[in-house]
Amino acid sequence: MSREDFSQVAADFPEPFRLLVRESVESTNDEVRTLAESGAVDGLIILAERQTAGRGRRGAAWFSQAGESLAFSILVRPEEPKALWPRLALAAGVAVAEAIDAFGVQAGIKWPNDVWIGRKKIAGILVEAGKDFAVVGIGLNVNCDSFPTEVSEIATSLKIEMSADFSRAEVLGGIIHRFARRRLQIGGQFEMLVAAFSERCVLTGNEVSLTTAAGPLTGTVEGIAAGGELLLRTAGGLQRLIQADEIRLK
Ligand code: BTN
Repeated sequence: MSREDFSQVAADFPEPFRLLVRESVESTNDEVRTLAESGAVDGLIILAERQTAGRGRRGAAWFSQAGESLAFSILVRPEEPKALWPRLALAAGVAVAEAIDAFGVQAGIKWPNDVWIGRKKIAGILVEAGKDFAVVGIGLNVNCDSFPTEVSEIATSLKIEMSADFSRAEVLGGIIHRFARRRLQIGGQFEMLVAAFSERCVLTGNEVSLTTAAGPLTGTVEGIAAGGELLLRTAGGLQRLIQADEIRLK
């Protein structure tokens, strides 16, 4: 496991972001939630070298290799109404993809918020809301050479894609600088965020199967609607999906 000093990059974070690094926690999302509930202010970031109970969407476990990946959570106290907070996931997805691009590899986003290179996942995002705050958790595979068998076919890392090691601190800095701008677009400038997201949406134009609360659906993705919903053309007509799981490209 490689040690890295994050302090220089953190000193250059835009306001209001500031970083706390922890050696080992259960989940950085939980750490941030606890601090938020005791009054921590907007912009706190907790990064852990190791998570013992990292989690993904729908309660799945999130495995990240200590010292080789980034696992961190950002406390956001949005000024926008709570109904708009799920858009933070889109903002984080765009920020991560833009940061990856800057390292020379084109990243796409699988709606709503998996970051892909080619058809493999490099980063996942988990946004959780509290009473008056949101926690944006980001896991990104940076210098991993391999993955557990269950995910080895569907996961990738910057190192695998670029055949080089990367500074995790620099990658973190790239994400935070971009998130600082994108998170401000969940309200008034949402069309800018949707445009950036749409350019990267790997589902657009593809046939997919997915599940919704109302049941399974198949169809062709026509793009992202003005409100950030997935536009799915099915045999029964155009559906505007706010939420969907198990989205599979055919
Ligand atoms: C997903 O793709 O399902 C989302 C994965 C989110 C993982 C990150 S790692 C940092 C933060 N802490 C967690 O427990 N989860 C998120």
